[in-house]
Amino acid sequence: MRMSVLLLILAAAAVGGYFLLPGDQQAEIPTAATGEPMVEVVVPELTGNAKLGEKIFEAKCAVCHGRNAAGQQGVAPPLVHQIYRPGHHADAAFLLAPRNGVRAHHWTFGNMPPVPGVTDGELKMVVAYIRALQQANGIN
Ligand code: HEC
Repeated sequence: MRMSVLLLILAAAAVGGYFLLPGDQQAEIPTAATGEPMVEVVVPELTGNAKLGEKIFEAKCAVCHGRNAAGQQGVAPPLVHQIYRPGHHADAAFLLAPRNGVRAHHWTFGNMPPVPGVTDGELKMVVAYIRALQQANGIN
């Protein structure tokens, strides 16, 4: 089930990418690295809300942002990344993104669609999880 969702997203990304590429690159086939993690993430021992947030993240976000929020080549960016440090993307951004979707602006993966079926309370736990990962990886 997860696999088929992933394949669907990869297919959508491939089709989207086809139209975005300049003409002379349109025949390019996605490389074997598609879906590979984009960064190496040290996973700390998670407790409390961060641990609950991990489960929610895996159910709702990892299909694009990858295991441990390490991103996936050709799919979506790592959230364990300087771009998403608290000073640049405050916690509110993590509530707004799944609610409203995100127009592609930092990367070239395309837009993030809204993610249905996840509450603000659950997203606050996701934030606790992401911040715990960020801190363990020197992103403050
Ligand atoms: C269908 C794929 C997909 C799913 C599912 C998804 N995202 Fe994203 N997300 C993206 C992409 C692609 C971007 C990068 C947009 C850009 O170029 O800035 C992004 C960006 C973000 C951002 C940055 C927003 C900003 O203001 O720049 C946050 C935060 C985020 N995602 C959180 C989440 C969370 C939390 C979930 C799960 C509830 C989730 N995403 C699920 C694809 C996805």
